[in-house]
Amino acid sequence: MSRRPLIAGNWKMNGLRAEAQELATEIATLRKAQPDGAFDLLVCPPYIVMETVGNAVDGAGVFLGAQTCHTAEKGAHTGDISPVMLKDAGCSHVILGHSERRSDHGESDADVQAQAIAAHAQDLITIICVGETESERESGKALDVVGEQIIGSVPAGATAENTVIAYEPVWAIGTGKVATPDDVQKVHAAIRETLGDKLGQDAAQGMRILYGGSMKPGNAQELLALADVDGGLIGGAALKSEDFWAIAQSCPSI
Ligand code: PGA
Repeated sequence: MSRRPLIAGNWKMNGLRAEAQELATEIATLRKAQPDGAFDLLVCPPYIVMETVGNAVDGAGVFLGAQTCHTAEKGAHTGDISPVMLKDAGCSHVILGHSERRSDHGESDADVQAQAIAAHAQDLITIICVGETESERESGKALDVVGEQIIGSVPAGATAENTVIAYEPVWAIGTGKVATPDDVQKVHAAIRETLGDKLGQDAAQGMRILYGGSMKPGNAQELLALADVDGGLIGGAALKSEDFWAIAQSCPSI
C-alpha cells in the first residue's frame, strides 16, 4: 500500500512573531514552487503565532497544526486551548502525547486518548506520539513500552484518515542521536502490527507512521526509505526552511 509521506515541523516553544512569519513565508514560497511534490507538508507553531503562520501559509499547500489540545470544547480551563478553537484558527492537525507533554505536564496514555477523541470530533487529524526512554531501550523494553502506549493512546475510532502515529525515541529527541535504520524499521513494523490488532488491517496498512528524533537532511533519506516509515516529525531542523525543505525532498517518490 502506498502511503503519502507527511513531513511535519514541530516548532515547540520557538518563534517570535517576526521569526515565525519569516520561516512560514519561506516554507510557503518553497512549497508554491513545487506544488506537486509527493508529500504533505505541515507546520505546528506555538498557539500565539498560529494566526501569523496561518496567514503566511494560506493557499500555499502547507497544512497548519497545533502541538496539543484540551479535551473540552470550551469552559473553565485556564491556559488551555480547545480543538474547536484550533479548527476555528485554521488548523487541520494536532500533535498529541509528545514526550515533552508527557514529561512536562504528566500527560498519560488515557489523557492522550481523550484528547484524540475530542480532536477527531472536530475533524482534526491527530499525530499521536509514542517512544521509549533510554533506560527502557537499554533494558530491552522498547517494543513493549511503545506497544502499550499505542494501545492506551490510540482511540478505537482512529482511522488511516484521522490519525497519524509518530515514533519518537525519547533519547533521540534534540540530542543528535538517531536510532539505527534497523531499529526504526523494527519498531515501526511492530507499531503497525499492534495497530492491526487494535483497529483492523485496513486502518493499520493505511495509517502513516512518522519517525521523529534528530531527523536532519543528512539522515532523512535513509530513514524515509524504510518500508514502514511514512514521513518525519521534525523539531530542530524544522526551524530552518532549507533544512525542512531538504528533508521533504528526501521523501521517496510514491
Ligand atoms: P528533534 O525533535 O528533531 O529536535 O529531535 C523532534 C520532536 O521532538 O518532535
